[in-house]
Amino acid sequence: MTPQKNKQAIGIFDSGIGGTSIWKEINALLPLENTIYLSDSKNAPYGQKSTEEIIQLSVKNTEFLIKKGCKIIVVACNTATTNAIDYLRKNYTIPIIGIEPAIKTASIQTKTGVIGILATKGTLNSSLFEKTTARIDTKIKIIEQVGNGLVELIENGNMESLEMTVLLQKYVQPMIDLQCDCIVLGCTHYPYLIPQIKKITGNNIKIIDAGQAVAKQTKHILIENNLISTSEKKGNSIFYNNKNKNVLDAILKEYQNTTIQFLDF
Ligand code: DGL
Repeated sequence: MTPQKNKQAIGIFDSGIGGTSIWKEINALLPLENTIYLSDSKNAPYGQKSTEEIIQLSVKNTEFLIKKGCKIIVVACNTATTNAIDYLRKNYTIPIIGIEPAIKTASIQTKTGVIGILATKGTLNSSLFEKTTARIDTKIKIIEQVGNGLVELIENGNMESLEMTVLLQKYVQPMIDLQCDCIVLGCTHYPYLIPQIKKITGNNIKIIDAGQAVAKQTKHILIENNLISTSEKKGNSIFYNNKNKNVLDAILKEYQNTTIQFLDF
């Protein structure tokens, strides 16, 4: 075990603030770890970009976190994972954890045999997503819905706006009409919409995201690589953001040991 490395931070990145939904799960499961979170809000949304652009941005984010001395990278973005994780794993030796829409979980839990997935165009069009879907029982009907406009509203802190309600109604109602009983949130920004989605679905539809699974996988890989923190003190978290920091401020207000820094990135 290399004690120096154990003290280093878990690096986490997303196209914006959405990956803080993953950071919260990691922070809850691994409170002794230091974390560095990179929110590339200036370039959000990634979901409309080409695979080449998403790879380029993911490389830039990964190199930033490696330069900061991170011991592991968590790609807290479905769009970056589904488009760039193969490239990242081929080109960097640091352990890299990704997040993919939890359609396997939904396919096990559904009783009606109909599941909905809300994700970005970049995720739904990716070959990795196509491969994952091909492994799902063909008897399960999967309704794919691109969440156009949702990330932009969340980045601006408009989670509860009328515009958001109208968009969610438009995306979720057709799933309800087709008897879907599980909705997969295939974008790390979307857990911030769960209260609004529940206003439309009521409590009869399960909303599934992969946040806890990613935190558990991060812990597992840290242990496997002898990288888990041996500290007895709660860790510190630094959040780098290259756009407006107000929404991050609001998200993190109840968390101690967190600092937000503006980054010209
Ligand atoms: N949080 C990102 C994801 O999980 C948002 C994608 C975007 O920037 O469009 O896919």
